[in-house]
Amino acid sequence: MIRVMFVCHGNICRSPMAEFIMRKLVNEAGLSDEIFVASSATSTEEIWHGQGNPVYPPAKAELKKHGISADGKCAVQLQASDGDKYDYFIGMDTMNIRNMKRILGNSKEDKIYKMLTFAGRSDDVSDPWYSGDFRRAYSDIEEGCKGLLEFLKERNF
Ligand code: 4NP
Repeated sequence: MIRVMFVCHGNICRSPMAEFIMRKLVNEAGLSDEIFVASSATSTEEIWHGQGNPVYPPAKAELKKHGISADGKCAVQLQASDGDKYDYFIGMDTMNIRNMKRILGNSKEDKIYKMLTFAGRSDDVSDPWYSGDFRRAYSDIEEGCKGLLEFLKERNF
């Protein structure tokens, strides 16, 4: 089984959206025994005394519009020890990538990707925390996830 970790700054908006969108695509493709997905934060911004905040309500609402529940997900921070547990680490923006390299170390660089490269794009996922545009974030993330699934299939996972 291949393991994919989506990463953003807080793990309450973009990376949980990616986790739940990707899980849906994986399930629909009948690949849930082949691909495991999770998400985490580079920061502890949304984690208090070890307890992570739930998915940000507007992000949850956007997922719900597409029939996806994000119940039960709480923010967790990416750990150095995740480096050996996952095969792909996918950040949402350039700052995430920098922080992921800091946490995971240079030896894990080959496993680190920026989300929209899977959509043939070099830009960052639009950050709804600042833009308020959860619809656009959803569309960016869905595009990235679809490209990622094709990439994984072509690589035979
Ligand atoms: P996320 O959004 O990284 O997509 O979960 C953010 C959440 C919190 C903050 C920034 C972005 N913050 O600065 O607290």
